Amino acid sequence: MTLYLDYNSTTPLENGVVETISVALREEWGNPSSSHSFGKVAKVSIEKARRNLAVMINGNDNDIIFTSGGTEANNLVIFSAVESYRKWVETQKNVPSDKPHIITSDVEHDAILLPLKHLKSRGDIDVSFVSAAPSGSIKVEDVISRIKTRTCLITIMFANNETGVIMPITDLGRAISKTNELRVKKRLFKILFHTDAAQAIGKVPVDVEVSKVDYMTIVGHKFYGPRIGCIYARDVGVTTPLYPIIFGGGQERGFRPGTENTAMIAGLGKAAELVIENLDKYMKHFICIKEYLLLRLQEEFGDSVVFNCHNDENHILPNTCNISLLGMSLTGSDILAACKTVVASIGAACHSQNKPSSILISSGVSPELARSAVRLSLGRETSKEDIDLATADLKQAVESLKK
Ligand SMILES: Cc1ncc(COP(=O)(O)O)c(C=O)c1O
Repeated sequence: MTLYLDYNSTTPLENGVVETISVALREEWGNPSSSHSFGKVAKVSIEKARRNLAVMINGNDNDIIFTSGGTEANNLVIFSAVESYRKWVETQKNVPSDKPHIITSDVEHDAILLPLKHLKSRGDIDVSFVSAAPSGSIKVEDVISRIKTRTCLITIMFANNETGVIMPITDLGRAISKTNELRVKKRLFKILFHTDAAQAIGKVPVDVEVSKVDYMTIVGHKFYGPRIGCIYARDVGVTTPLYPIIFGGGQERGFRPGTENTAMIAGLGKAAELVIENLDKYMKHFICIKEYLLLRLQEEFGDSVVFNCHNDENHILPNTCNISLLGMSLTGSDILAACKTVVASIGAACHSQNKPSSILISSGVSPELARSAVRLSLGRETSKEDIDLATADLKQAVESLKK
């Protein structure tokens, strides 16, 4: 028997999503750009999905652009902000053509950190990395204090994939709006605000009006949808710039050319519809099961178990629990390898299994604790019985390793 507790890495598809995808594959296979009936059926399906995604985050349909996933969505935002700043400088008389500046945190996913490091290494941008240490959460004032005249983008994730820490996106949105009011008066570039909400959707409420973001990244396979995604861009192409990074046909109004993947888009729309209908239910379930998980871990491991980043200051995703075991000199990888049923991970799937997670270290977790860290992330179907099995399995894994 295998017990999957790695839902932050990816989720299975909901049955309703599989059904929607199957119907689309069978019946909506026409090219959505064709004006005949086959094309129209596919187009209707795509627009229905777009509507569901917009409703899910309280945005407008037109501001949703489908992408291959979160990585592409994040890259699209970064390259758009840089291009937009470059074009803006060209139109200004007394602005020196200096490098655009971007602010981010040091606990972002590689789909943010690596494009930024790439552009920086090419000498195209300056970047300020705001530290999430010691609590695991960034501070609004730390972000605002790093703003320069040349700042074009602030990109901070909604919730961290490894620690589950929810960042103060709403407070940050308010602070950036205020800053922008002054900047517009001073004829400075209006700073664009992006949040990568890959880990938050389907777990906590996410609303583009409340958070005042210009861009939001949405990733289907983190909320029981297919492996595609989309970018929300407020009043896209008018108040919020979006420049394509690939070129071809005019699909997605030219922002993301290429014949649409109708079936996966339909599935993504269905996954969004399920979130719209059931978010409260999902949240209540996560809260209840996570509470039980914390209790059972404490019963099994007593004071040796540390819940990383669970402190009075932080809000944490209700499905995420990053733990370390004190004083046992076991690595997270060893513990997971010795588990007989539990399947989880020590951090982001794309990172090395041998080194302590740099994200945990940047979140203020000590190297010793980071080395033994295991991320347990719960799903919609995880039960208390599963938690009993998981904690017993972790216990036997640790006991066998100690021997
Ligand atoms: C916070 C965050 N952003 C972006 C991504 C990238 O998504 P994808 O690999 O589907 O492109 C992930 C996936 O792990 C993620 O957790």
